[in-house]
Amino acid sequence: MWRPPQKIKWHPDPGRWPSAEEAGQSQLFSPFQIGEMRLSSRTWVPAMVPWRATEEGTVTEANIAWYERFARGRPGAIVVEATGIRDVPSGPPLRIGDDRFIAGLSRLVDAVRQASGGETRLLIQLIDFLAIRRRPEPEKFFRRHLRITDRHRAALDARAWPEDAVRERLATLPEAELIEMLDRRELEALRMGYRERVTDTDLPHIRDLPRTLPELFCAAARRAREAGFDGVELHYAHAYTMASFLSARNDRSDGYGGARWNRVRLPLEVFRRVREAVGSDYTVGCRYLTEDCIEDGMGVDDAAWFGVEFARAGMDFLSLSRGGKFEDAKQPKVGGSAYPYTGPSGYECMPQYVSDERGPFGRNVEPASRVRAAVRAAGFSTPVVVSGGIHGFEQAETLLREGKADLVGFARQSLADPDWFRKVKLGRGAEVRVCIYTNYCEALDQKHAEVTCELWDREALGEPGISKSKDGKRRMLPPAWSTTEEGDTIHIISARRATAHERKDYEE
Ligand SMILES: Cc1cc2nc3c(=O)[nH]c(=O)nc-3n(C[C@H](O)[C@H](O)[C@H](O)COP(=O)(O)O)c2cc1C
Ligand code: SF4
Repeated sequence: MWRPPQKIKWHPDPGRWPSAEEAGQSQLFSPFQIGEMRLSSRTWVPAMVPWRATEEGTVTEANIAWYERFARGRPGAIVVEATGIRDVPSGPPLRIGDDRFIAGLSRLVDAVRQASGGETRLLIQLIDFLAIRRRPEPEKFFRRHLRITDRHRAALDARAWPEDAVRERLATLPEAELIEMLDRRELEALRMGYRERVTDTDLPHIRDLPRTLPELFCAAARRAREAGFDGVELHYAHAYTMASFLSARNDRSDGYGGARWNRVRLPLEVFRRVREAVGSDYTVGCRYLTEDCIEDGMGVDDAAWFGVEFARAGMDFLSLSRGGKFEDAKQPKVGGSAYPYTGPSGYECMPQYVSDERGPFGRNVEPASRVRAAVRAAGFSTPVVVSGGIHGFEQAETLLREGKADLVGFARQSLADPDWFRKVKLGRGAEVRVCIYTNYCEALDQKHAEVTCELWDREALGEPGISKSKDGKRRMLPPAWSTTEEGDTIHIISARRATAHERKDYEE
């Protein structure tokens, strides 16, 4: 992962933990209404892909156990990972592109409801993404993938050569000459792997996205409602299709690119179609970016303007992330795929402890507050969710009190300790396992390996009945945490063996 050149090491500082009484009176643990959905607190677990579904994208027992474990911590809401809306295989993230996925997703909904005692609301993030291929072997690229055109022939002075001879010649050229010979996209396909863009309107399926996507999102949202989710989050963030429509780099000339109004057109058309399908009594919002964080990308002024339009259209919430784009991703190894969280924009999305003077904690709070202020100034009360490096109670409470956001997202912090919410609410914040923002979890995500956290995945590996990674070296879920009764100050470690660390706590 890219890191800021300053390389300043930051340590998480959760600050002072509240007593149970103080937590009870806080904004963070106050109920909150979003559209038709009442949250028990203003806490939110943003979408995180754990890589636990089947290759076909169906729900597994591991998926159910994962979300059940998060639900035991009783956050206000959990957003289920980015879930593909098309009926095409895309590996172990979940899918919702056909009615056959509903049964598995319903089981997941039931498990979360039961584990949280009905306290946690469950949404699902709906995603569309375009094709991306692995970085090819140069030989293969020139022999098979590159489309030979007159431009190549002219550059090689090889107009009459058979195509194979042109390919052979290109395959032997040094990099410096290839730079002259290939266009920008061809060079990118060679160095990074081929990647489709929303601006590739010469491809019929890309040209037709404004016709196909509203229906795909709408059918997925209808299935989500049928499966029992409390709401849907349209994924308009990061490196994926809808964010690329919003991006300032979108220069489509068919009325869906260029000016802001054109760039927001498809995201609004998708939303309206979804709203028509699920009705006004169902929670629908979106996740989008405060900034692309790439050269010539969209900035916070765009985000504020889009926020007002989303609010005007009737979205129930706006969840704000930042960065996470392909455009500045690191070059993958031959055979690997570009990953959108490896460049500076990726850093902004999941800021890591090695940082710059601003540090990794709450980098998105000020941009998000600008979006919220614009939405409020336009007369809308649409709630704004902010995330990025938030791990402490005081940090969360302060940003709510200062009106910078309405709900607080804790992604990696809830992965480090899904019981954060209960522990803090019960006045037991000192027992929180605080995220150290190393991005070990994100590295697993990049490898498409089952996501775990380094703070717990080697703990109590001998515990009977736990599930482990294929190599047996990592546990798949954090150890349990429980109390005899809510508010009781006695810490009872549940039916498992205490770790050395916990035993030490007891003996003291
Ligand atoms: C393992 C992992 C998977 C993620 N998957 C998604 C995803 O499916 N959809 C999404 O919008 N963001 C995803 N994110 C980004 C998080 O939702 C969040 O925006 C980011 O981690 C910053 O918040 P944090 O500092 O609270 O972790 C993922 C993050 C991690 C660490
Ligand atoms: S592995 Fe754990 S500690 Fe490290 S960033 Fe991820 S959640 Fe935080």
